[in-house]
Amino acid sequence: METIAVYPGSFDPVTNGHIDLIQRSAPLFDKVVVAILRNSGKTPLFSVDERKEMLELSVREFDNVTVTDFSGLLVDFAERIGASVIIRGIRAISDYEYELQMALINRRLSNRVETVFMLPAETYSFVSSKLIKEIASHGGAINGLVPEEVERRLQKKFAPEA
Ligand code: PNS
Repeated sequence: METIAVYPGSFDPVTNGHIDLIQRSAPLFDKVVVAILRNSGKTPLFSVDERKEMLELSVREFDNVTVTDFSGLLVDFAERIGASVIIRGIRAISDYEYELQMALINRRLSNRVETVFMLPAETYSFVSSKLIKEIASHGGAINGLVPEEVERRLQKKFAPEA
């Protein structure tokens, strides 16, 4: 039986930290489904379709990785697509508390889906979509921290009106 892992998140936008985690998880599972949360309480900078496009461009090289979106409970989505694993990245100890809470709640909701925590390369341990947006909004350099297409789109979003 094949093992399907779901890698959920907001991905607003995808960073090289996310890509690093996808690259590390792709060889470990038969399929990795990157899933963008649709009905988040957060107001996103990029639409779900834009985020999906950027992710799809960034994971083209991985044959067993697909990108989709979901709404509702993550465990319901995971069960619907036959995933038995949820992948979450932990950058620093500060991520742990929230991730632990989420993993335990998800376990309570479904004991058929197991959360697996993974560590991104330390190069990206300080990278978050939130910080990337903040830096880009002030015209700061984000090269090397996000895929080139994301860098282009962020610059366009924050470009002063002509
Ligand atoms: O990238 P993020 O914003 O940290 O991802 C959070 C995400 C999408 C994984 C989380 O909010 C989620 O799973 N939401 C779906 C609703 C749900 O299942 N909630 C119960 C578990 S917290």
